[in-house]
Amino acid sequence: MLRLDGKVAIVTGAGSAGPGWGNGKATAVLLARQGAAVFALDNREEAVQETLGIIRDEGGRATAHVADVTSSAEVSGAIDACVAALAAWTSW
Ligand SMILES: NC(=O)c1ccc[n+]([C@@H]2O[C@H](COP(=O)([O-])OP(=O)(O)OC[C@H]3O[C@@H](n4cnc5c(N)ncnc54)[C@H](O)[C@@H]3O)[C@@H](O)[C@H]2O)c1
Repeated sequence: MLRLDGKVAIVTGAGSAGPGWGNGKATAVLLARQGAAVFALDNREEAVQETLGIIRDEGGRATAHVADVTSSAEVSGAIDACVAALAAWTSW
């Protein structure tokens, strides 16, 4: 089994447009189940919070971030936020 302990996964579009499982939501949850700390990004707060809740309810590590991946400034800000969050993850 692939183990991703100590790894960080940035997943864009980590929510789901409707009920059920979109690709990004499923990817984020599966990566967390494999041990990765997931930086879940979506342009809709409620969508990414749902994914964050699933991961945390399962005991996984994740943080949520709202950004539009079509905006280079927002992507740059997301990377900065991910790096800042990593410092906290490494102290877990
Ligand atoms: N090639 C295939 O076989 C195949 C199969 C399924 C889906 N798809 C494609 O994959 C993509 C995802 O579809 P899905 O049904 O898995 O997921 P989805 O539509 O359920 O979820 C996509 C998520 O991305 C977020 N999002 C949309 N635009 C964004 C942006 N600019 N910045 C950040 N987040 C954004 C949405 O808020 C949503 O939560 C779609 O483009 C779909 O057409 C392709």
